[in-house]
Amino acid sequence: MADYITTYTGIHFYPTDPDPEAINIEDIAHALSLLCRGNGHVSTFWSVAQHCIICAREAAAREWPDRLVLACLLHDASECYLSDVPRPFKAELVGYREHEDRLLDMIYTRYLGTPLSPEEQRMAREIDDGALYYDLRDLLHNEQSEQDPQFHVIPSYDFRSFQEVEKEYLELFRYYYNRYKNALGGDSHAKIPGGGTLQDLAELPTCPPQRPGPDYDLLADQVRAFAETEPSLMPLLSNAAALLKDAMADVNWAGFYLRREPADPSSADAFNNPSSEATVMANEAGASSARTVPSPDLLLGPFQGKPACIRIPWGRGVCGTAADRDRTQLVSDVHAFPGHIACDSASNAEIVVPIHRSDGSVTAVLDIDSPLKGRFDPEDQTGLEQFVRVLEQYGEWD
Ligand code: SME
Repeated sequence: MADYITTYTGIHFYPTDPDPEAINIEDIAHALSLLCRGNGHVSTFWSVAQHCIICAREAAAREWPDRLVLACLLHDASECYLSDVPRPFKAELVGYREHEDRLLDMIYTRYLGTPLSPEEQRMAREIDDGALYYDLRDLLHNEQSEQDPQFHVIPSYDFRSFQEVEKEYLELFRYYYNRYKNALGGDSHAKIPGGGTLQDLAELPTCPPQRPGPDYDLLADQVRAFAETEPSLMPLLSNAAALLKDAMADVNWAGFYLRREPADPSSADAFNNPSSEATVMANEAGASSARTVPSPDLLLGPFQGKPACIRIPWGRGVCGTAADRDRTQLVSDVHAFPGHIACDSASNAEIVVPIHRSDGSVTAVLDIDSPLKGRFDPEDQTGLEQFVRVLEQYGEWD
């Protein structure tokens, strides 16, 4: 019997006596996308590659060096040649660990130039263990006693085709490998590990591959179907928030803030329950200046996510700014946005789209938050504005 396995690309690979030249990223991406996590004890197919992609994206979100992003992507790559042996059994298999460690070192050396240092191993393991916690909790439904590890990426356990996952794995690899090798510099014609030359790699994409976005045309159709059935705002906006939260990757909050007019400043209620800071300041200055025109507020509406701030003054925060300027706010890093109002400390990026009544005035905003910096791009903006146009057209705003 042959002492090699034949890989997806047709290479003869000797698992007990591996040749570094036989290690191939296309084989790794393909096989890991077809290997099921948890030895198949999961409710639906979910691959080792999906786990590795989460780890790599988490390393990137933590702004760790490209070398560590790649290490996280490759940390289970030996499984494509040795298979995924459950941890308790692995401990019993004499020699298995040694083979696995040797092969992993070879894989790291092939793509990163050297094996991982002990500190790099510790960092990669920290993310691997965090992802394992969510795998056990959400994929295998195991009770977890510890606190949720702080993750920027929100792991998704939705079924995806292996072809789509394989493509994402390869795109991530190529992007970070390209940057890693270019940062190291060197002769552009030199043969580099893993095949190709620096010249070839320079032609590869220069921005991080995004997770496939939602189908915004489909989302617009879905919200239109809800609106045609029932245009009143409470059910419509509740389902709209649910649709978005469910369809968009790495979103921790999706919902609406609705414009509320200030109470009549001459009424007693306006003093007890001022609707905005403009009125508060006017009240502090005395009854006569309280007659200055106060601004409306944004009041929390239907949403999905953690509990959020109830009132936002017009012009304040990302939501108030979008409403006041009547312009979508696409914020890559909320901590760099002056006056950002933090509701969920996990949020790092935000997009807010104004919603109009039939007379053209701003009557509400759609607000979406993500733990991932730079999560939203102009494509999301166009898609969400299209979604909001449907709400404007069908909802009972007037
Ligand atoms: N961050 C928003 C507040 C609302 S929460 O994100 C749900 C803002 O700055 O307006």
